[in-house]
Amino acid sequence: MPVNPPETMRQLRYDGAGGPEVIKLETAPVPRPGPGQVLIEVVAAGINRPDLMQRQGKYPPPKGATDVPGLEVSGRVVALGEGVDAPALGDEVCALVISGGYAEFAVAEAGQCLPKPKALSLTDAGGIPETFFTVYSNVIQRGRLAAGESFLVHGGSSGIGSTAIQIAKAQGAKVFATAGSAEKCRFCEELGADHAINYREADFAEEIARLTEGRGVDVILDMIGASYLQRNLASLAVEGRLVLIALMGGYKVDGLNITPVMLKRLTFTGATLRPRPKADKAEIAQGLARDVWPKLDAGEIRPVIHATFGFEEARKAHELMESSAHLGKILLLTGR
Ligand SMILES: NC(=O)c1ccc[n+]([C@@H]2O[C@H](COP(=O)([O-])OP(=O)(O)OC[C@H]3O[C@@H](n4cnc5c(N)ncnc54)[C@H](OP(=O)(O)O)[C@@H]3O)[C@@H](O)[C@H]2O)c1
Repeated sequence: MPVNPPETMRQLRYDGAGGPEVIKLETAPVPRPGPGQVLIEVVAAGINRPDLMQRQGKYPPPKGATDVPGLEVSGRVVALGEGVDAPALGDEVCALVISGGYAEFAVAEAGQCLPKPKALSLTDAGGIPETFFTVYSNVIQRGRLAAGESFLVHGGSSGIGSTAIQIAKAQGAKVFATAGSAEKCRFCEELGADHAINYREADFAEEIARLTEGRGVDVILDMIGASYLQRNLASLAVEGRLVLIALMGGYKVDGLNITPVMLKRLTFTGATLRPRPKADKAEIAQGLARDVWPKLDAGEIRPVIHATFGFEEARKAHELMESSAHLGKILLLTGR
């Protein structure tokens, strides 16, 4: 049975911008769902690299959103806003939230909630929404990856990468990944990548050319940006699509030769999920429910949970992500 939400709850906030030391545990009023929203009693909140950027002051929450960090949660629905038919009170769900996930109770748009997959615990479901919404919308919808095509994801061992490998493989694509160590490459191949490239030991563009006999790949999901752009263009096949979702390697490129765009009829696009309108996110949720949820329900694909931390240990959780030593997802548990 759903609990009656209490008046107050524990939440994490950033006390200014800086390192993990600015993360503070505090008590705050439980938020109330508005029209079209639900209140979730949070079991787990996923940590994503954008949370670290927000902590450093480089990624402020959109106007009107709470400054409590956290982009995804799992838990039980405990209150419904006006006009919500589904999910229902007591349902176990995971949800994409615009912010406010690092709390014992979080408000989510009803259209951004999806049922807990049958094969997963409610805790592990907290590691789904941010990477699954991002990968599905960028690789399947924007990148139009089709069965029989080939796909390259950079940062294959990241939260995003581990999801991308599985979704692309389930789509029937040949999958390549880059990662920064032999252990990370092994992890990518165990998840289903046909070939992982240790970018610290080999030039990924030379390896892609060798592995595809000079053809290149059909779709690249890139989180590195400027420092990879020329080599990404070189690694695409004719009619290839490059989808940019982050800029860990910078955003300005000197001396770029854009000729391959023309000669190979390439598409260069990108997106960032958080500021997209509610209607877009609801449409992505519907696509996920149709195309991906049956595979999560059957246990064919899953979020890979590297580690979990209590709220008191949130600083350690951020330090772990900052070290990039993790494989897959890191979760915060509320203990509820
Ligand atoms: N556009 C969107 O809508 C959207 C949504 C969610 C996330 N993102 C972005 O996607 C990226 C992955 O997010 P995530 O939550 O999956 O993060 P994550 O698990 O921390 O993954 C980041 C990975 O990138 C690799 N990496 C490469 N260059 C790096 C650098 N200069 N600094 C740190 N790591 C580097 C690291 O692995 P190696 O050891 O292999 O280098 C690291 O494991 C982030 O940049 C995030 O901002 C974008």
